[in-house]
Amino acid sequence: MKNKTKLENYFNFIKQQPNGFLYYDKKKHHKINKKEKLEKIKIKYEKCQNCPLANLGRIQVVFGQGNPNAKLMFVGEGPGRDEDLKGVPFIGRAGKLLTKIIQAMKFTRQEVYISNVVKCRPPNNRLPTPEESQTCKNLILFNEIKIIKPKIICTLGACATQALLGDEFKISKSRGNFYEFHGILIIPTFHPAYLLRNPNAKKDVWKDMKKIIKKLDE
Ligand code: URA
Repeated sequence: MKNKTKLENYFNFIKQQPNGFLYYDKKKHHKINKKEKLEKIKIKYEKCQNCPLANLGRIQVVFGQGNPNAKLMFVGEGPGRDEDLKGVPFIGRAGKLLTKIIQAMKFTRQEVYISNVVKCRPPNNRLPTPEESQTCKNLILFNEIKIIKPKIICTLGACATQALLGDEFKISKSRGNFYEFHGILIIPTFHPAYLLRNPNAKKDVWKDMKKIIKKLDE
């Protein structure tokens, strides 16, 4: 009797749903979860005080942006002035070049996920210190990666490459190769800011992007 009532309640509940029996879309449910989990990280760390960058002139914490279900993720070094002002990663000069690269791959920024090793602007755009990188990647970047679980992460420049693969990975040698990181493929390439100074290296980056496109299709 008890079970019958439970079943009736269940069917009544299903009937009330706009999509009837389809209401419980497991995939959609999963997607909502990823988005919510990323939101939780933002709430937890929006006033982060865990490393010296919190008190070295940052305006705001710049979290990753894009599709929580992205198959492809880009990781840079840290926000610059424009990013700090707007709270969005990669929107300055280097960011515009990254956007062009993404579009040349026939993606949009909304389809991929874009993040950084450190989420606060280092003063005068200096390199993040090992302490800052270590703290921030453990608290935020690694969690973003765990939630999104992309197929491929493209690390932009030495800082991101070494943050994920280790200090022994020099960008000149590792660029364009796939490495495994907790079941995710990592491919280092040059940072777009480097490309602005060395346009000749654009062809190398394009080779790397073609490898990514091919791998995503496999
Ligand atoms: N350079 C980076 O590494 N990240 C940004 O968000 C902007 C510039």
